Amino acid sequence: MRLKDKVAIITGAGSGLGKAGALRFAEEGAKVVIADYDSKAGQEVEKEIKEAGGEAFFVEVDVSNWLQVQDMVDKTVKKYETIDILINNAGVTQDSFLVKMSQEQWDTVIDINLKGVFNCTKAVASLMMDKGEGKIINTSSVVGEQGNVGQTNYSATKAGVIGMTKTWAKELGFKGINVNAVAPGYIMTEMVAKVPDKILEKLKSKVPFGKLGEPKDIANAYLYLASSESDYCNGTILDVNGGISL
Ligand SMILES: NC(=O)c1ccc[n+]([C@@H]2O[C@H](COP(=O)([O-])OP(=O)(O)OC[C@H]3O[C@@H](n4cnc5c(N)ncnc54)[C@H](O)[C@@H]3O)[C@@H](O)[C@H]2O)c1
Repeated sequence: MRLKDKVAIITGAGSGLGKAGALRFAEEGAKVVIADYDSKAGQEVEKEIKEAGGEAFFVEVDVSNWLQVQDMVDKTVKKYETIDILINNAGVTQDSFLVKMSQEQWDTVIDINLKGVFNCTKAVASLMMDKGEGKIINTSSVVGEQGNVGQTNYSATKAGVIGMTKTWAKELGFKGINVNAVAPGYIMTEMVAKVPDKILEKLKSKVPFGKLGEPKDIANAYLYLASSESDYCNGTILDVNGGISL
């Protein structure tokens, strides 16, 4: 029960890494806010947690929309009175070579992956500053560290997330708030299922273990950074990629 009674908002918790994090956090005693714009998926995760005896609350939100994000925070505080943990996990890809990338593809990915992280963090920061504590975990990517063909928009957002993580570690660290990031490698979720098999095989061959990661690998990294075990981590970018970046 490493997160007993902690209130944790996880964005994009309707599927993939966010869902795995939500299930894991609930097992560890957290009250989990499933924040997702896919209401069907989000409600299913809420149901699954409750059926297993955990505590969860679904809030429909598009993280790129500032008013909806403020509403998510208001609903969370109304229900659970406080917020201890924010996992900025929601993210999308819209891949294309640079010369073919449309303005819309650029804007959509920037709005969700970058502005969404800004919106959610800004919305919880004052409350955590008043408490003098809090844990904020951002989701970057190996692609934000190394770049990737066809991912101009995505790699820009994930590199930007690293910049914001380090900035907030300095700004909010003075107020007792830990801000860290997880940089996953290639983890088998719906997002990665879109990658053609041939490319996935090539990626696997670059990992010393010869395999992709599983959502639980990232859920456990989220758990570490959300728990008191990581109290002296601040501005850390935790690579969880099986060694693909070596
Ligand atoms: N899967 C990987 O290999 C991998 C690697 C590196 C980083 N990441 C990052 O991890 C995070 C989770 O990825 P995933 O693989 O679980 O993806 P996923 O597509 O399985 O899940 C993403 C979730 O985010 C939600 N979402 C998307 N846009 C949203 C918005 N505007 N507002 C609210 N919710 C929104 C979706 O509805 C979905 O439930 C993303 O930030 C992704 O960039 C994933």
